[in-house]
Amino acid sequence: MTDRVLVFDTTLRDGEQSPGASMTISEKMMLAEQLERLRVDVIEAGFPISSEGDFESVRSIAEKIRTITIAGLARASKGDIDRCWEAVKAAAKPRIHVFIATSDIHLKYKLKKNRDEVLAEARQAVAYAKSLCPDVEFSAEDSTRSDLAYLARVVEAVIDAGANVVNIPDTVGYTFPTEYAERIQYLRSHVPNIGKAILSVHCHNDLGLAVANSLIAVQNGVRQVECTVNGIGERAGNASLEEIAMALRTRKDLFGIETGIKTEEIYPSSAMVTNLTGMIVQPNKAIVGRNAFAHEAGIHQDGVIKEKLTYEIMRPEDVGIKESKLVMGKHSGRHALRKKYEELGFNLSDAELEKAYILLKKVADKKKDVFDEDLIVTVRDALRIAPPVYKVKNIQSIAGNQVIATATILLEKEGTLLQDSATGDGPVDAVLKAVNRITGMEGKLIEYTVHSVTHGADAVGEVFMKVDFGKVSFIGRAASLDIVDASARAYVDAVNKMIPYQMALEVHNGKK
Ligand code: KIV
Ligand code: ZN
Repeated sequence: MTDRVLVFDTTLRDGEQSPGASMTISEKMMLAEQLERLRVDVIEAGFPISSEGDFESVRSIAEKIRTITIAGLARASKGDIDRCWEAVKAAAKPRIHVFIATSDIHLKYKLKKNRDEVLAEARQAVAYAKSLCPDVEFSAEDSTRSDLAYLARVVEAVIDAGANVVNIPDTVGYTFPTEYAERIQYLRSHVPNIGKAILSVHCHNDLGLAVANSLIAVQNGVRQVECTVNGIGERAGNASLEEIAMALRTRKDLFGIETGIKTEEIYPSSAMVTNLTGMIVQPNKAIVGRNAFAHEAGIHQDGVIKEKLTYEIMRPEDVGIKESKLVMGKHSGRHALRKKYEELGFNLSDAELEKAYILLKKVADKKKDVFDEDLIVTVRDALRIAPPVYKVKNIQSIAGNQVIATATILLEKEGTLLQDSATGDGPVDAVLKAVNRITGMEGKLIEYTVHSVTHGADAVGEVFMKVDFGKVSFIGRAASLDIVDASARAYVDAVNKMIPYQMALEVHNGKK
C-alpha cells in the first residue's frame, strides 16, 4: 500500500459528460495543462471510441502531457480497447481504463447477460488491454449495487488477468459511508490477490455523499480517488477534487495520508473549469465558492481580523485565493469596515468612519450584500463627487479565421462622442482594447462567462465579467443579442464603477 492517495482526475471524461459542459479540443488541452500544474496523478482524457473529437483530444493530450498518466476509457470490447490504445499509446505513461457493469440490474436490463458471461468478458478484456498497455485499470460499474460475493469474484479475476488498478465505483451515488467501508473491507479480506492491485473509488453525488464516501474509502485502504474539478459530472456530479484534497490536507491528523496535489493551483483550476464549461460554482461551495472564505458576521469578522485561525480552518492562499474576504453586510462591525476601507486605500478619520458606518447599515438593510462598489459610493457621496459615465453608442467588429480581429467603438461621455479602434486576439479582446484607448483604463479580465437568457439561435446572451484594475476588481454585466456588444457593455459597466473609485481616492488622499 502506498502512503499517498493517487488523484485520478476525470473532469475531461465524466465531468465533460455533464449536460452543457462540452469543450473543444483546444479547451481540453488547456485544461489538461492546468491539471498537470495541479499535479494530479492521472488524467482521464476522454472516451476515445465515443467520437472523433474525443479520440483526437485524448491523442493530443497523450502526446503533449509528459509528466503524468493519461488514461482513456473503453468498454470491455476489443473495438473499444483498440481505439483507446490508439489514442493513449503516445503518452509517456499510458493507461487503458476498461469497464463493465456488475450489478444484476445492469446485467438483466442493459447487458442482457448472466454473471458468468460478464465475468468472462471482464477477464478477457483486461487480459487483452494488458497485452497492449502495461497499465490497465478495471471498473466494475454500479459496483455498490452488485452482489458482494460476485463482485469479489470479478475483482479477483481481473487482477489475475493483469489489472493494476481496480475501481469500485458508486455509479449512481447510492451508497452510504458505513456501507461503502464494509464493502471495501470485504473485498480486502475476501479477494486473495487484492494486494497486487491498487484499489480505487469513483463516487457520484446523487445523495450529496460523493466526497464523504471517497474519504471513508481512503480510511479503509483505498489509494486512488477519482474526482473532478468543481465536482462536475453526470447528473449531480462526481466527488469534488478540491474538497477531497483539502479534507486530506486539513485533517492530516485524522487520515495520516497525502495527495500530490499542489493546492495553490486549486482555485485557478476551478476558475478555468467554470470559464470553459460555463458551469458556475454555487457561492457557498466548499473550497472554491465565492463565499468559501468570506466572513460577514460581525463576531466572525472581528475574530478573523485578530487571528484568522479563529474562524478559518484553511488559509485561502493555500488554495490559490489571494486572501479571505470581509464581506460587508448588516452584521458587520466598525472594526471590519475600517479594515475594508483601508484595503481600498481610504484611511478614514473616526468621524468619517462613523458616517460611513451609519450609511452602510442603511444600505445593508435594503440589500443583502454590500459590495466594494457600495462602499465606494458612500465615500463618493460624502466627498460630493459626480463621476462621468461612459455610454456605449455604437460598435463595429470584424472577426474570422482569416482576418485580424478589429473593433471600433463609439462612446458618449457627458454629451461628447469619442471613437477609437483596436485590434486584438479575437473580437472581444479588440473591443475591450478600443474601450481602453478611449477611457485610459487598463482592466484585466479575471472572470468571463456568457450564458443565454432566452432560448434558440436568436437567444439573448448575458455577459458577466470580473475586471481587475489593480487594487480593486469590479463586476460588469450586460445582455445583448450580440456577444461582442454585450462584452463591450459589460466592460464599460465595470469601467464606470472604477472611475468613481479612482476619483474618490484622488480627492480623499489629496485632502489628507
Ligand atoms: O460512474 C461510473 O461508474 C463510471 C465508470 C465508467 C468508472 O464513470
Ligand atoms: Zn462516473
